[in-house]
Amino acid sequence: MSESLRIEERGSFVLATLDRPEKRNAIDQELVDALHLLCARLEVERRTLVTTGSGGTFAAGADIAQLRDRRATDALAGINTSCFQRIRALPMPVIAVLDGYALGGGAELAYAADIRIGTPTLKIGNPETGLGIIAAAGATWRLKEIVGEALANEMLLTGRQLDAQEALAAGLVSAVLEPEAALERATAMAERIAKLDPAATQATKRALLAPRDAHPEIDLAEQAVLFESPEKHRRMTEFLERRSRSADGTGRAKR
Ligand code: COA
Repeated sequence: MSESLRIEERGSFVLATLDRPEKRNAIDQELVDALHLLCARLEVERRTLVTTGSGGTFAAGADIAQLRDRRATDALAGINTSCFQRIRALPMPVIAVLDGYALGGGAELAYAADIRIGTPTLKIGNPETGLGIIAAAGATWRLKEIVGEALANEMLLTGRQLDAQEALAAGLVSAVLEPEAALERATAMAERIAKLDPAATQATKRALLAPRDAHPEIDLAEQAVLFESPEKHRRMTEFLERRSRSADGTGRAKR
């Protein structure tokens, strides 16, 4: 258990709060280790993850005090990269609630989420080149996929941060809400996901993460597995029976 990652059980999902507010939730090795431990758990438990930061900040980046002493072998080890890749690849969805600064590695952690919700104080971007490094934990490819090349190039080459409205307009966040409402929205999303078929949700996520040239084969292969699943049959039968009961006037009203 790490003091800098607060983990709360919320029934259908797990809420993980980056909790080093005195360092603006800068991501140090302890936090990376704690995130790996959480991933190991979620890879087995297969639950939705909602992640956020404490103290009005999501995360102000990798911990610069540690980063300054890292050398070539550390870069090649991909300390943050492998952690964020693992979060990206979690079997169930990851929802990030972005309050305040999401910079550098903090932004890259956000880019690794499947769904992002911002708050009005959001400032998101990659100031890495100003520190003499590149944004090597996902920004050079994921940001481009999310917002398109023109804006990603501008953000990464100039270090310009987007505010909440710009992030919303660019599709980098799907909503901007006050912090409490943002967490409520993430909670509602996680609860909604929990009512869906987990096998279908996981298959959808695998297909979404597959490279372009894996389509449409991956979609067909995933669908083939689901077409054989009793849960698919049960859910579709339930839908059809509800409709026919409703048409007879003998059952519940249609949803
Ligand atoms: N790494 C390590 N420490 C960090 C940090 C980071 N990425 N970001 C903030 N901190 C620390 C500060 O050093 C300071 O520590 P101290 O109180 O021991 O001096 C503390 O967090 C508070 O930071 P401060 O700058 O005083 O807060 P602020 O609210 O005025 O500004 C930021 C917030 C995010 C604008 C500012 O902290 C900042 O620019 N951080 C670095 C952002 C960055 O370049 N990230 C990319 C890293 S790859």
